[in-house]
Amino acid sequence: MKTLLLPTIKDLISYQKTLNQNSYIGLVPTMGALHEGHLSLIKASKQKDTHTIVSIFVNPTQFGPNEDFSKYPRDMQKDLRLCEENGVDAVFAPQVSDMYPNHDEISLNPPKNMGYVYEGFIREGHFNGVLAIVLKLFHLIKPHHAYFGQKDAQQLLIIKRMVQDLFLPIQIIACPTQRDADGLAMSSRNIYLSQEDRKNALKIPNALKIISQAIERGETKCASLIEAGKKVLENIELDYLAICDYNLAPLEEIRKNASIVLLAAKVGKTRLLDNLWI
Ligand code: PAF
Repeated sequence: MKTLLLPTIKDLISYQKTLNQNSYIGLVPTMGALHEGHLSLIKASKQKDTHTIVSIFVNPTQFGPNEDFSKYPRDMQKDLRLCEENGVDAVFAPQVSDMYPNHDEISLNPPKNMGYVYEGFIREGHFNGVLAIVLKLFHLIKPHHAYFGQKDAQQLLIIKRMVQDLFLPIQIIACPTQRDADGLAMSSRNIYLSQEDRKNALKIPNALKIISQAIERGETKCASLIEAGKKVLENIELDYLAICDYNLAPLEEIRKNASIVLLAAKVGKTRLLDNLWI
């Protein structure tokens, strides 16, 4: 089956006219540079939906002025090939001018307690940009299900909250983090890592493993768990290692099925995120 490329909103609307009332649309929103993590989202949608649409759009509004927007990895040919090989029905890949027709536009703010901590504290305005583009994609594509990786935990929780607060008729499906054989969580930004960086980066999943093992042994105190994790992260530029609930409020004691360990660190010049859902 050929994957249809929809480079404009007009093309997307024409495509939607070919779908019937019994269609279930699954959306996998991406910024391209697709890897196994994205493919696992596509697979999940293929199982649940009659039509899978992947959006590929490097969203300028979620990058800060000193971040990697211009050098963010882009390889449309490869992405299209992967979509085709994985049975994606359509790829929506609009231009910036299509998605942001007005310079001074209506904006959306994440909740204060969720959107301006951790990633939102370090990357000012990041989640405003994420919410803006995700809401636009939801309105344009009108998916029944939208698939997001658990790796970007804070993003996932904030998007779930947007769906709840704005009564959007969309089910958010969270999919597990995919890892390389050495344990590093897959990310489009991993290609920035040198061999030396990559070795160092493995301290991140190792720290989470130590925390997970301590929990299995019965440790519940977040301070002790964080201390155990930090020992593994020596010589790494740690941005944060925190344990919080699903509203991103810090916890003193972990709660099963209601807590998350968030970790962000800079390795070489690359910021990496990972987490552990407890
Ligand atoms: O996770 C991403 O790739 C992006 O933040 C998203 C959700 C596609 C919005 O640009």
